[in-house]
Amino acid sequence: MEQPVKKPEPHDRDLHPRDRGGPAQPMLIARDIKKHFPIHAGLMNRQVAEVKAVDGVSFSVMKGETLGVVGESGCGKSTLARLLMHLMDRDSGEIILDGLAVGEYQGMPLGDLRRSMQMVFQDSYSSLNPRFTVEDSVAYGPSKQPGVSKKKAREIARDLLEKVGLRAKLFGARYPHELSGGQKQRVNIARALALDPRIVILDEAVSALDKSVEAQVLNLLNELKAQLDLTYVFISHDLHVVHYISDRVLVMYLGQVVEIGPVDKIYASPQHPYTKALLECQLSMDPNERVDQAPLAGDPPNPVNPPSGCRFHPRCPFAEDICSSKMPALGDTLRAGRDDHLTACFMAQPGSGHSKAPTQADLLKRAAAHPAPMEV
Ligand SMILES: Nc1ncnc2c1ncn2[C@@H]1O[C@H](COP(=O)(O)OP(=O)(O)OP(=O)(O)O)[C@@H](O)[C@H]1O
Ligand code: SF4
Ligand SMILES: [Mg+2]
Repeated sequence: MEQPVKKPEPHDRDLHPRDRGGPAQPMLIARDIKKHFPIHAGLMNRQVAEVKAVDGVSFSVMKGETLGVVGESGCGKSTLARLLMHLMDRDSGEIILDGLAVGEYQGMPLGDLRRSMQMVFQDSYSSLNPRFTVEDSVAYGPSKQPGVSKKKAREIARDLLEKVGLRAKLFGARYPHELSGGQKQRVNIARALALDPRIVILDEAVSALDKSVEAQVLNLLNELKAQLDLTYVFISHDLHVVHYISDRVLVMYLGQVVEIGPVDKIYASPQHPYTKALLECQLSMDPNERVDQAPLAGDPPNPVNPPSGCRFHPRCPFAEDICSSKMPALGDTLRAGRDDHLTACFMAQPGSGHSKAPTQADLLKRAAAHPAPMEV
């Protein structure tokens, strides 16, 4: 039985005032973020190439929203998460948290970012210090804040343990090796919440848990989000989980965003051939819907030397000449509203030159079928 959860105390709120920019201002904006890792080789250890792990990614996350991030292994999801958290330096681009550019002059200092944005990793065991008790682990962050006594930090820790469904009296004095995987991940979630963050980045946070524990932790995350006014970026390769927890979904392929939109639109009518293939890869509970053939042909191309034009073209069954010569634009993800569905594929772009692109007649038909609401 989950414990009743109360709102953060005024003391906690004082650490960082919430809703600086009001509810309409995005909680997080990532603008044209790039991270290329150099590859060195030879006797002189010279740079011979670079891995384009994150290559011009832009998106925003609204307050109270859960943005799911999906894509194959190696497409740059964890690198993106670390860049958002400033755990590594980006090559270029801008990160804006509730209206303040992080790490910039007159922007948000990194110390404030570390309180406002927290991360939960997949590996629940190595995320915890084996020499700290559960209570010490959770109390550590608050105890380092100016003006927070050790006693107060312990109170915060005990309160949070109850919030994540672990009885503080029972679990507070235990060490990580005395906990199950699900319990360890609950401690990690409590630790992430200990500084009363506004946004939490969850990188494969439930992937290591078995299905029944995974469901409990997902429900816990949803409850905490509602009760503590949180915003999530939820990274996972499990499309069922992303469907369950997300409001919007961002699909990454080889360091770039290829599709973004509301979860129901993406799952009901994916526009990008890569997203369609990913969704077809999902195991269906209905045996009649199961496919024998892998919908995605070939290995993901090497991010060291990504294909020209649309990076998906070597694997795309609809690729035409234009696909290897030009890169399809995604559209303005930063101006896109909660309901907008954007995709970086020539087939979705009128006049792109792809034979399956919509014609003027198709657009007129669509407009007639979905007339725009009249302005009054
Ligand atoms: N520190 C690093 N130095 C060099 N290359 C790196 C480094 N970190 C990541 N990479 C490379 O960047 C690419 C993206 O890696 P990343 O870990 O972000 O992928 P991912 O989408 O999180 O994959 P997974 O689903 O397997 O966790 C990969 O090709 C990876 O090998
Ligand atoms: S742009 Fe071309 S190659 Fe890329 S997904 Fe669309 S059809 Fe396929
Ligand atoms: Mg990863």
